[in-house]
Order: sequence, then structure tokens, then C-alpha cells
Amino acid sequence: MCGIVGYIGPKLADAVLLFGLYRLEYRGYDSAGIAVIDDGEIEIRKDTGKIRNLERLLKEHPVEGNVGIGHTRWATHGAPTSVNAHPHADASKSIAVVHNGIIENYDQIRKDLQSKNFLFVSDTDTEVIPQLLKSNNFSKDEEYDIFKTTISKLEGRFAFLILVEDKPDRVFFCRNGSPLVYGRSENEGFLVSDSSAFIASVKEQYFVKDGEWGWITREGIVLFDKDGNRKEPELIEVDHDLTQYEKNGYEHFMLKEIFEQPTVVRNILDKRIGANNLINFSELTMSKDFQAKLFRIVFTSAGTSLHAAMIGKLYIEKFAKIMTEVEFSSEFRYRNPILEGDTLVIAISQSGETADTLASIHSAKAKFLKVLSFVNQINSSISRESTAAANLFAGTEIGVASTKAYVAELVSLLLYSLHLAKLKWILTDEEISVILEEVKKLPKQIEQILEKADSIKEIAYTMRDKRDFIFLGRSYEHPTALEGALKLKEISYAHASGYAGGEFKHGPIALVSKDVPVICITPKSEVYTKMVSNLEEVRARNGIIFSIHTEGDESVPALSNYSFAIPDCSEYITPILSVIPLQLFAYYVAIAKGCEPDQPRNLAKSVTVE
Ligand code: G6P
Repeated sequence: MCGIVGYIGPKLADAVLLFGLYRLEYRGYDSAGIAVIDDGEIEIRKDTGKIRNLERLLKEHPVEGNVGIGHTRWATHGAPTSVNAHPHADASKSIAVVHNGIIENYDQIRKDLQSKNFLFVSDTDTEVIPQLLKSNNFSKDEEYDIFKTTISKLEGRFAFLILVEDKPDRVFFCRNGSPLVYGRSENEGFLVSDSSAFIASVKEQYFVKDGEWGWITREGIVLFDKDGNRKEPELIEVDHDLTQYEKNGYEHFMLKEIFEQPTVVRNILDKRIGANNLINFSELTMSKDFQAKLFRIVFTSAGTSLHAAMIGKLYIEKFAKIMTEVEFSSEFRYRNPILEGDTLVIAISQSGETADTLASIHSAKAKFLKVLSFVNQINSSISRESTAAANLFAGTEIGVASTKAYVAELVSLLLYSLHLAKLKWILTDEEISVILEEVKKLPKQIEQILEKADSIKEIAYTMRDKRDFIFLGRSYEHPTALEGALKLKEISYAHASGYAGGEFKHGPIALVSKDVPVICITPKSEVYTKMVSNLEEVRARNGIIFSIHTEGDESVPALSNYSFAIPDCSEYITPILSVIPLQLFAYYVAIAKGCEPDQPRNLAKSVTVE
């Protein structure tokens, strides 16, 4: 999704903005641009494609100034052309804007302005912002009233920054739904989509809230709420763990993050399991009594986080015996679901900014329900707007295809289901301890899998020319099949579909041929023999089988063309292990095909629009 950066201070703005834009690259984008006040005039440079194209343009046509705004665009309204790239300006180039989100009533505003002879050059919704400000005489008059009146006319979810030629001592901003963070360091100010874009000297930050607007200067921030009341921001410390933004010798962030998974799990276990194997979710601002009385849980999430929710449902039903449902957040928000009684809505999100998941939270809260969120970005909108939030402790995830956050979601949900089981008196401390002893083996077991990454690489290379893949799994491994297929689609652009093994003969089996590999996730479990039947069905039709099986099992490898062993473990642990070879498989297929796994085409890391 679009990323925005604003800067004012003693440094050269173009360098600071480029640094921030590179940091925001992971969000996904198709063009980039900056605007800087150079010798009293707004200078705009923008180009399609990668940020290095913009950097090249800046070398050919430099800009020099100490205040500016920058943007990476993920096209929504209008093709990814350089005309549609941000910043956008009014005709006289006295007001420039960068924007993340959608102005839903842009068409009406545009028509009104066109009737007053305002000329539009782009196809974007964003262009109405500078034009509307100009029509209201923004650059000449008192900023407060004009800005307030103008933004009150805009509908939708957005965050934007404004540079005004006549006011070179400030950068204006407004937030209504899309993320925006203010950062302060000595004699300089920053406004960014997320804190990763701050340079190291920024020590304090403030997460701008919905409806807030104002401007920053070198000295600080002038902040108003939506009614125009002046506010004082509560600044908090910035956590600059710079190693998160480096590849540390790995070719891609995705590979680095796959290999970080043992550490991530260790970290979660350290944080969540205390002395005597007592599980700790003490930060949840939600009474134990309420959690103990829960009758129903509804998960809402999207993409990879939805697959984690599907496994979370199995954990909660198995251990805590609570009726649980899983909803796509994009469906949940619009279908007015029946939500009442002792129901808890659980939102799962790596970024904490997914627009549909955020909207689901709003609809649940409108029905007076409590919302618990599991989020990796703990300062995000989703965690702030939930009744209680649990940190996933996966560390910053940069690769667009989620890997370590998924494993963190699974481990966290397993622990939370045990926490509920204890509150409901379904499992004793001793019973939970037995399960936790097995959970503690996970980091080592994941390491064992990663040590064999090369064998996955070999299998992936043999399949690099295949255009279609089927993934099959049952019970705990059905969501793994969906996740394995999603990973492959996301980064290698091969068509891949995941199915529940039992559904295979109801349609997908028609696709089996030597050109369509079937990836069977077949560890030892209650449904093992049923999955073996699926393997037989594929084999009988001369299909190619790549299976994931339990160490020591000889039957599944004998039925498969390729196979990969994961350590022996309980059935509920298997999805945490079996997904690792599938992440590696997707990665190596993508590499073999010459794709760029960290920045897959058309995808965004955090989807802040509908
Ligand atoms: C986007 C990302 C996916 C992610 C999904 C949900 O589509 O590309 O990797 O799973 O959003 O994101 P969330 O941050 O809410 O987990």
C-alpha cells in the first residue's frame, strides 16, 4: 500500500525522504515521488517503477531544500503512470500532496471544481486535495480555518501530507483511517506511514489518531482533534532495532524471516511461559471472569492471518471447548452477523492496519462486543482499537509474503487456547505442562527442518516450469494446504489451489495430470490413512506427488515422487512445522523462475484500503 514520508529540519530533504521511501518499499508500490521546497518553489520529481528510478531522476534533476514530502504509490485510482504518481499539485504548483487511502467522494469534488475551471491532469482521487485547498485560497489565508473546512469535505479513509509554497516552515497532515506517525528529533520533524521510515536520530514518536490533523515544524507538532480542539501529543520512545531492516547476509528478507522462525518461537515461549509452566497473557485488559465464561468466539482476519485463524479455531475447540467460527474480515464487515451474548471477536493481523479487519472490529464494537486482537505491530490501529491486544512477538516482518508472523500466530493461538482451557477448568496445570513440554521442542524442530532447506530447493527447481499446483491437507493441515498454495501464488505467480483432502474427489481430482503437481501434507495424525487414500488416487492417475510426511514413515514416501520429512510430534503441533517446507518451496520456486520474492507484483504488505 502507499507509503508516505514528510520531513522538515536542517538536513537535505531529498536524502531523508529517499531513505524513508526505501524503508517503506516492503509495503508494495508501483511508482514513487517527492516534492521539496527549493528556493521558495515546490519542485516535484516522480517516476514509475522502483525507487532507484526516482533516485536516478534526482541525480539528473536535483532538488535542494530542507522541507519535503515523499510517496510510494500502490495504484487504486488510475494506472501506475508517472502522471498518476504522487505528489499531486494544484495547477500553479503552490500546494503539493501525498496521500495513502481513498477519497470516496472525489468524483463529485472533481466535477464541482471542473465546473469552476480547475484543470485536472491525473486519474487519481488524490488530485482533488490540492485543487480543493487551492479553491479555498489555502496558501494565502489563515491555515487553521481553511484546512479544517477542506478536510471536513473529504469522505473515506486516508492519511495525507501537504506542502505549501507560501509556508515553508511546516508540513501539514491529516489522518482518517490510514496510518500516520509523527517522529521528533532535535530541531527536526518527520511524518511517516510507519516508524521503520524514521532515521536513527528519531527517538520519540506519536501515533496520529483518526480525525487528527495539524502541522509539524522544526520545533514540534501542532495537533488538533476532529472538532478543532488543540491537543498535546503523548510521545513514546521509538524502538530502533535496525537488524530488522537488514538482510544480514540473506539474499531476501523472506528467506531471512523463514530462518528467523526458531528465534521467533523461542521469543514467544520466553514471553508467554513463566515459571512452573504457567501461561502468561497478563497484559490483556479483559477480565479472567469474562474469558472464563465465553460461549462463542468469532475470528476475523485476512490472507495468511485467516489461515492462522482456521487453525486457531481447531485449537480453541479442542482445548477450551468453545464454539468458534472464522470469518473473512472483508465479508464479516458487510454482512451484519449475529453477535450477542458471551461472544468474543478475535482479530488477527500481522500489520495491525488491514482495513477490512479494522472495519470488522468497528462493527463488532458497535454491537457492544469485546474484541481481542493478536497483532505483530503492537502500536497499530487494530491493537489500539481493540478491547485488548496481544503481541505476536515476531519482530518486524518485511517480506510481503508473511512467514514468521504466521508461525507466531499459530504458536500464540495454541498458547491462548490453553490459557482459556485453564480459565474454564477444562485442563489442569499438569495437563497443560505436558503439552507445553512438547511446544518447547518447536524451535529445535524448526531448525532441523531448515537444515534441510537444500533438499526443498532441489524439488522446487524440478517444478519451476509447472503452471498449476494442487495442495491437499486434512484437519490441522487443511489450512496449511491453503497457506502453502497462497505462498506459492503470491511470489511465484504459479496458479495454486489448496483443498481439504476429502473434497478432492468432488472436483479438483479432474485436474490431475503429470503437469499439475499435487502437494500432499500427510504427517501422522487421525486422518493419516484418509490422506494416504488421496495419495493413492493421485498416483493411480499418474499425477506427480510431493508429500510432507512424518520422520520414520516409509509408506508416504513410497507413494510419492518427492517427499520431505518433518519431526514426529502431536497432531496439533504439525501445522507449525509442516508450513516451513512449504514456505521454502514457494521461495525457491520463485527464485528458480526469476521472480522477486520480497516485492511480488500487485501485492502490498499491509492493505489499508478496501
Ligand atoms: C496482505 C498481505 C498478506 C497478509 C494479509 C493480511 O494481503 O500481502 O501477506 O496475510 O494482507 O494482513 P495482516 O497484516 O492483517 O495479517
